[in-house]
Amino acid sequence: MIRSVVIGTGSALPARRVSNAELAEQVDTSDEWIVERTGIRFRHIAGEGETTATLAADACRRALAAAGIEAQSIDLIVLATATPDQTFPASATKVQAMLGINDCVAFDVAAVCSGFLYAVQVVDSMIRSGAAKRALVIGAETFSRILDWEDRTTCVLFGDGAGAIVLEAQETADDGGRGILTTKLHADGRHNELLYVDGGVSTTGTVGKLRMKGREVFRHAVTNLASVMTESLAMAGLSSDQVDWVVPHQANARILDATARKLGLAPEKVVVTVDQHANTSAASVPLALDVAVRDGRVRQGQIVVLEAMGGGFTWGAAVIRF
Ligand SMILES: CC(C)(COP(=O)(O)OP(=O)(O)OC[C@H]1O[C@@H](n2cnc3c(N)ncnc32)[C@H](O)[C@@H]1OP(=O)(O)O)[C@@H](O)C(=O)NCCC(=O)NCCS
Repeated sequence: MIRSVVIGTGSALPARRVSNAELAEQVDTSDEWIVERTGIRFRHIAGEGETTATLAADACRRALAAAGIEAQSIDLIVLATATPDQTFPASATKVQAMLGINDCVAFDVAAVCSGFLYAVQVVDSMIRSGAAKRALVIGAETFSRILDWEDRTTCVLFGDGAGAIVLEAQETADDGGRGILTTKLHADGRHNELLYVDGGVSTTGTVGKLRMKGREVFRHAVTNLASVMTESLAMAGLSSDQVDWVVPHQANARILDATARKLGLAPEKVVVTVDQHANTSAASVPLALDVAVRDGRVRQGQIVVLEAMGGGFTWGAAVIRF
């Protein structure tokens, strides 16, 4: 059967790395509070000239190099972001131009922190239907530009960055073949007011700032993530003890721990980068995946589960034989 196989990963971070102590000079917070409540120690913040599209293009160049393929062979680019360079056109088309690809399909997907999982399902469906053969799937964000830097309850939690994977259509064995095995997505729009941006093109005509009721988001996150991972593993005919790695959305170390515990997964199987990157929204899963591929943890043939949850609410998971 035709499956979408990951043939390369890449990521990019802004040059400026900001510690909790540095943040504590601007807002009423402390390294101790941030580490204890979230596990976050550092985040990268985009500077002048660094945008969602430039970070995305850098991540793509690294993913293409890892795959050993030319940019021109890409026929689909899907970029998950809530912080595009412009209201339109899609930042995916900017990335396309930066990579020197003259003709391919390119568009953005908006599902906030679950955006990468949404993009993976869209691309996987297009690959399996024959609409695409080789795709770049990207999560890229510059959340620093929609943060209220006077609100200590949110500004300490987020960072900027980008991650990308190259997915290729390959004929693989039904049983035991590599590729994306299952994807499962959800949305429940009743929870808009728990995590949102208080501006928009069609309402205020402004970009707006991020607002969040953190405690309530936390409660929903653990429940939704554990259940969507269980669903996607059941669809793949796998149990949680067959999972080699979970690459979760990096929102909060306590959410990662609580979700792993609920599924009976050993903490050593969970890839954690939230300490170094903070919450980079749609970028967090592909960024963490690239880290774990490059340091040799995630290897070909292993069972890898990706999961994320974000504003909307939206949430989802994907099971991959890597
Ligand atoms: C945001 C989060 C870290 C807050 O942790 P919490 O344990 O729920 O803390 P609370 O919001 O109840 O706040 C506890 C206290 O810390 C204070 N506080 C909040 N932010 C602070 C900060 N940055 N520094 C110091 N104190 C802070 C609060 O004012 C509150 O003080 P009070 O008790 O005097 O009122 C946590 O709720 C969380 O991670 N939620 C999920 C968020 C998330 O993952 N969102 C993205 C999903 S995509």
